[in-house]
Amino acid sequence: MDTIKNLLEKIRPKSLFSRALVILGMPIVLVQMILGYIFVDRHTETILRQLSQNISGEIALTLDLLKNTTDIAAVQNHAKENLGMNIHVLDKNKLTQYGLHEAGWLYNHLNSALKTKINVPYFIFMTDDKIIIQIESTRGVIKYEMTRKKLFSRTTPLVLIWTGCSSILLLLIAAVFMRNQIRPIKRLAKAADRFGKGDDVTNFKPEGATEVRLAGSSFIKMQERLNLFLTERTQMLAGVSHDLRTPLTRMKLQLSMMDNTKNIQELQKDLAQMQSMIEGFLNYARGSQPEKRKPVDLVKLLEDVIQPYQSPTFNIDIFYIDKKNIESLIVPLKIDLIKRLLTNLIVNSKVSGTCVHISVAQKERFLQLFVDDNGAGIPLSERENVFKPFYRLDTARPMQSGNVGLGLSIVRDAIRSHGGQVFLEDSPLGGIRVVLNLPV
Ligand SMILES: Nc1ncnc2c1ncn2[C@@H]1O[C@H](COP(=O)(O)OP(=O)(O)O)[C@@H](O)[C@H]1O
Ligand SMILES: [Mg+2]
Repeated sequence: MDTIKNLLEKIRPKSLFSRALVILGMPIVLVQMILGYIFVDRHTETILRQLSQNISGEIALTLDLLKNTTDIAAVQNHAKENLGMNIHVLDKNKLTQYGLHEAGWLYNHLNSALKTKINVPYFIFMTDDKIIIQIESTRGVIKYEMTRKKLFSRTTPLVLIWTGCSSILLLLIAAVFMRNQIRPIKRLAKAADRFGKGDDVTNFKPEGATEVRLAGSSFIKMQERLNLFLTERTQMLAGVSHDLRTPLTRMKLQLSMMDNTKNIQELQKDLAQMQSMIEGFLNYARGSQPEKRKPVDLVKLLEDVIQPYQSPTFNIDIFYIDKKNIESLIVPLKIDLIKRLLTNLIVNSKVSGTCVHISVAQKERFLQLFVDDNGAGIPLSERENVFKPFYRLDTARPMQSGNVGLGLSIVRDAIRSHGGQVFLEDSPLGGIRVVLNLPV
């Protein structure tokens, strides 16, 4: 049962185009089969009966003529020219075999037609191309020989060929039209995909059938709403953060004029932390201006990023895994965003590690980047949390701007705006491995 299900699943057409073709083609094939059945079974049957009756009638007529004439040669000539039959009078009076040579469709028709027309013993024999009939008569046994074509109707194969050809032609025309109907759907899918990868889709116009057009214009509206929502949200948050700076500064000033007690010192520390969080967020918001993807040489980009961080105590290396398998190292990327992402990762590794390995590989439709370090690592239970904004594990570390727990949030945002994913694994170097999947 399961194997049948699997087989059905396997042969079921997947694309809209092939499904539409099957939906169109099925009835045509069905009509063909019904037509074929009717013709072969009914029409051919009728024709065959008539042809058999004709042959039998001609035989009865010539038998009659032969009985009453002395000029056998004249009848023979007549039969040959006008009826396509060769008539021979054999030197024997009795048949050795009677009836049919073998049973079959054609035999039976000829047999039943002959039976009604003549009432003397006869024997029917057919070869691949001839019909031979021997008949007992007062003149002795008479042998009739004619081609099998006399029992052959050309209409059946002709009808089948014509209907078959016209069906194929119809299907071909349908296929061409269908392809045109499916193109706008494909275009919409492509536009949605590009939007998902963070591109502004400006040159997309809804086209095609009403429903597809509707989906297209809904897509455009959705894209506009999403873009508006995103910019409004970041602008609002940036605005709030910006406005918080003034009261914070005022509070700092007021605190500095108070007595230098322990409580005041604690408050000052908290204020400093708040200030760096706000600075961090403002930096982040400033950097999240929409950026377009541009083709960039990944090798050069990586080298540019790591260069300022190389030092005798901190070593960064780049590896290419299966380089010939990598389709292209010129990749469409939002350059500033990717640079920021890589910088954040390197800065994180530098806290507890001494070396970083960046490896590039191709995995199906993704370009994969592994950023490995030999640092302290991140416990399994925290690997999802560290991507949350302002979430830090090492809270003992002093909080400065750029170190407020936004690093990995920015990494995730950046990779998602390229339509990719990021996750954490154990690194063979002992620390953490950041896996970046970029669709290309
Ligand atoms: N390479 C790393 N090795 C060990 N811990 C890390 C690494 N990267 C990030 N972390 C942990 O994840 C937390 C969140 O990182 P991040 O978002 O960059 O914030 P931040 O670096 O500002 O603290 C960090 O506080 C740190 O504890
Ligand atoms: Mg960081």
